[in-house]
Formats: sequence, structure tokens, C-alpha cells
Amino acid sequence: MFNYTAFDEAQAEFVEIAPASELPNGERLFVDLGDKPVVIFNIAGQFFAIGDVCTHDDGPLGDGMLEGFNVVCPRHGGEFDVRTGKVMQMPAVVDIPAYPVKVQDGMILVGLPKG
Ligand code: FES
Repeated sequence: MFNYTAFDEAQAEFVEIAPASELPNGERLFVDLGDKPVVIFNIAGQFFAIGDVCTHDDGPLGDGMLEGFNVVCPRHGGEFDVRTGKVMQMPAVVDIPAYPVKVQDGMILVGLPKG
């Protein structure tokens, strides 16, 4: 899976999600961006956005526990780094999408690839 956070910002189209004040430290927010279910985490004041579907067997990743920057899939324990989408633990073997996030004028923005 492509790591969208590696996109040059100029290649991304940023979408407003919510005021950053509505996503306090340790919380997560579920959104649909077009046909993409996405979960946004606030980890120690930093925001990260990943696809909300596990690549192993479509588990709901956003419901998983966080271990540092890794989210643990609640179905079979696969782990992914929320910063990059990289798979860290089997049984999952394929990365998930990770999207660039920024805060502008107090709003959380998530970047999707243009086109
Ligand atoms: S569905 Fe996520 S590890 Fe199996």
C-alpha cells in the first residue's frame, strides 16, 4: 500500500475534518473521505491519519489499542505504525494507507492524493 505521507504537499489535496480542539490527546476520530474510511489519532498532541480497514481480513483498525505509535488490530493482533501505515506485526503483511495531516487555523486537515 502506498504511503501517502510521503507525498509532496503540493501533490495532496487537503480536506477540512474538524477543529483540533475536538480531538484531544489520546482520542481518535472516525471519518469517511469519499469512499475511504479513515481514523485520525491524537497521540501526545500529534495527529496521524490511517485507513480504518486492516489489510489482513478487513478488521476495524480504529477500534484497536495503541501501543506507542502502533495500532493493534482487534481481530487478530496485526500491528501497523500510524505514522507511516507500515505493517509491524503478522498476521497482517500488507501496509495500510497513511495520510498527511496538518493543523491550519485550528482545523485538522487531511491530505488525499490529487486526482
Ligand atoms: S483483520 Fe486485522 S489482523 Fe486480522
